[in-house]
Amino acid sequence: MMRLIWLVLALPVLLAESNEPEEVTYLSDIEPIIRAKCTPCHSPGGPAPFSLLSYQDVQKRANQVALALIDRTMPPNRATSERGTFTYIPATSPEDIVKIQKWSTEGQVRGTGDELPAPEQQRRWRLGEPNVIVKPHDSYETRAEDRPHWRVYRVRLPHFESKTLRAIDIIPDVPSVIRHVQVALSGPSDGPTAGPGSIPIHSLIGAWSYGYHAIAFPENAGLELHGIDELVLHVFVQPSGRRESAGLEVGLYFGEGQIEPQIIPLRIPEGHIPPSPAYMATSRVTIPVDIELLALIPDFRDLATEITILAIKPNGSTMRLFHLDGWSTFWIGAYRYPSPIHLPAGTTITLDARYNNSTHNVQSLNRVPTRVPIGTAAGEEPGSVALQVLAY
Ligand code: HEC
Repeated sequence: MMRLIWLVLALPVLLAESNEPEEVTYLSDIEPIIRAKCTPCHSPGGPAPFSLLSYQDVQKRANQVALALIDRTMPPNRATSERGTFTYIPATSPEDIVKIQKWSTEGQVRGTGDELPAPEQQRRWRLGEPNVIVKPHDSYETRAEDRPHWRVYRVRLPHFESKTLRAIDIIPDVPSVIRHVQVALSGPSDGPTAGPGSIPIHSLIGAWSYGYHAIAFPENAGLELHGIDELVLHVFVQPSGRRESAGLEVGLYFGEGQIEPQIIPLRIPEGHIPPSPAYMATSRVTIPVDIELLALIPDFRDLATEITILAIKPNGSTMRLFHLDGWSTFWIGAYRYPSPIHLPAGTTITLDARYNNSTHNVQSLNRVPTRVPIGTAAGEEPGSVALQVLAY
């Protein structure tokens, strides 16, 4: 009986305790999210402008961090597909966002215990030590007055009798300066010389950006380097306001693969992008043979806003291969699928590109909206996607 009375008396207290919303602390709730999803970039030597490694770092910017998550500017890589993610840094979940918001508005409590040790310096080459490391012919430094710009680098390869290229990774000298790199194979005479235009779509072999998978082909695939003596890199450079190296190292991995990856181009029709806040351009290609889709290498500039790529199979079923709402010239990704996507002969791949060529597009370089030609020269809109495939 005593026991029962005690229980009845204690019940309201217990209930009150369980209704009490749990306190969110940095150590138990916030640090695990930040370490998995932010510090791969936000730590010393990473591409981001500040570190989020310690409680102090995060606490100091708690509001800014919560806002960046709520308006989804961070983490930055937002393209989605039905077939897995393009990045190796996990996306934030709605629960993560609620936790960080709650923590930032409710006292930013640290909790008791030790913080996680700083991770070891990120391994330099993610695929292990490359077979060969090469650098551009010329060194290049940014100047204080430079604006973000594209630049073409040529990288001479050692002479190979016969080599099969299986993978490529890139390490910038200064991570915040090199935002995006498109890589192309070039023979002795072809390819662009220098400047901000685009690389010929057929010579593209992959793209690199922070947080994305390295350029790596499936087991059975590789590119024969016979007769190739240069790589061409089309690099998007973001000067920091200081004099800094805009150089990089390219690691090449060789192996056996037999099948050569190929490029199927998907381009919006020739013409121009008219001044308009919502102009839509579309294009489609039907594939005559079975393919494995490995990667997408999109080339759009400052006027693009939303890109959608679908596969419509012969049986009528539709697969969303790519969707990005909020195209940004600073966050062009390297869109390689976690595993190849099989698409049967007769599949139609469609591209819908939405443009905002008006004064409302804050990233537009076209201050007074004018017709922008579609093309690959400087100042033109490429409006293209290279589909990298293995064809059978
Ligand atoms: C792939 C690299 C990368 C990842 C991952 C990343 N950031 Fe960033 N972050 C950057 C870069 C680079 C900038 C500088 C601004 C820019 O270039 O967009 C930045 C800027 C910011 C800013 C200031 C600008 C703003 O929008 O307020 C905040 C806050 C921020 N990041 C928070 C975070 C948080 C929180 C996470 C994890 C949930 C995260 N970032 C994940 C690279 C990254």
